[in-house]
Amino acid sequence: MKRRGDIEVELIKKAMEMKERAYAPYSKFKVGAALLAKSGKIYGGCNVENASYGLSVCAERVAIFKAVSEGERKFEKLAVVTDLDEPAAPCGMCRQVMIEFGDFEVIMVSRDGSKIERRKVSELIPKAFTPSHLKKVADDGSKKS
Ligand code: THU
Repeated sequence: MKRRGDIEVELIKKAMEMKERAYAPYSKFKVGAALLAKSGKIYGGCNVENASYGLSVCAERVAIFKAVSEGERKFEKLAVVTDLDEPAAPCGMCRQVMIEFGDFEVIMVSRDGSKIERRKVSELIPKAFTPSHLKKVADDGSKKS
């Protein structure tokens, strides 16, 4: 049984490894992510850019989509690392994708791992639009029509 600290170290190490796989020839901004599912498995992701710039996908979403496509739905923590000297926060699109799957912990890590910031997804995206909003309308709709 791994201790909490050991798992975080592993998660951060994985995010750092993933950063080196980033396909970022346009921005040159490499990002790595590692997502710990409640199953105990870790899913990595890196940003994957495209000549049609708008098609680029962030590291966090790659990690989440990999995990979900493997059957995971519940997550504990997501580590994200960039080449910056300060921890960088995930973009708005990734925050919206994160909250879809719950209020897990996001660990933002500086390039060398010396600086770490932690936030819950709900802190990163306050007042989020969530599946519960859709459910409310669906429930009301079934009463009205
Ligand atoms: N990027 C991420 O991978 N994650 C973020 O949270 C912010 C931005 C990527 C997208 C793009 O490939 C590059 O960083 C510059 O925006």
